[in-house]
Amino acid sequence: MPALAPSSRFESERLTGEGFVLRPWRPSDLDSLLRHANDADVVRGLSSRFPHPYTREDGERFLSGAVVDLDDPVFAIEVDGHACGGIGARPGDAERGHCAELGYWLGKSLWGRGLMTRVVATYAPWAMQRLALFRLQATVLGFNEASARVLLKNGFIEEGVARCALVKNGEPRDVRVFARVRRSLCDAP
Ligand SMILES: CC(C)(COP(=O)(O)OP(=O)(O)OC[C@H]1O[C@@H](n2cnc3c(N)ncnc32)[C@H](O)[C@@H]1OP(=O)(O)O)[C@@H](O)C(=O)NCCC(=O)NCCS
Repeated sequence: MPALAPSSRFESERLTGEGFVLRPWRPSDLDSLLRHANDADVVRGLSSRFPHPYTREDGERFLSGAVVDLDDPVFAIEVDGHACGGIGARPGDAERGHCAELGYWLGKSLWGRGLMTRVVATYAPWAMQRLALFRLQATVLGFNEASARVLLKNGFIEEGVARCALVKNGEPRDVRVFARVRRSLCDAP
């Protein structure tokens, strides 16, 4: 069993939608996490912080908070009682503290059912309100049309391309930049 994650300020959050629950990760999610995360097709569009193969040790490190800051709202996507994917928003620092980077993934067996569209529809407005965000941003690799569709269907606007924004498999890669914004924290997120 991995070390207990440091307690998060979002520990008691639980967001529900059609066919899923979003809630903080737990040490007991390890087997389910490994089952869904150890898949080259899942990793293809994600940061190298999400390795392949995805080992038990990788899962333990993630669940202990050693990979991403679990004090941010980093949630498991629970379907039928199992953690089958994840979604999170990482706020920037200082003057970028009202902007956060959105990331998400889902086990391949659940793709193509509209699930992530519904998850983002629940999570994005919640995160913008809870974190007092003016801007929620997501970046998408060129091949990842499914992810772009999820964002566009949730009110994210495509703003352009950040060239050579990251290195994937040793090659500099462009990313498409999407964001959902509001000019006032009083506006609906
Ligand atoms: C991207 C991802 C989250 C999508 O999840 P999902 O639950 O399958 O998405 P949905 O079913 O809600 O919506 C997918 C949309 O993309 C479309 N789509 C899927 N594959 C596509 C393709 N190859 N080309 C064009 N559109 C595609 C679907 O038709 C659907 O759009 P529609 O409702 O307008 O028809 C999932 O594929 C995944 O986890 N991928 C690996 C991790 C990843 O890439 N994360 C995003 C990083 S930016």
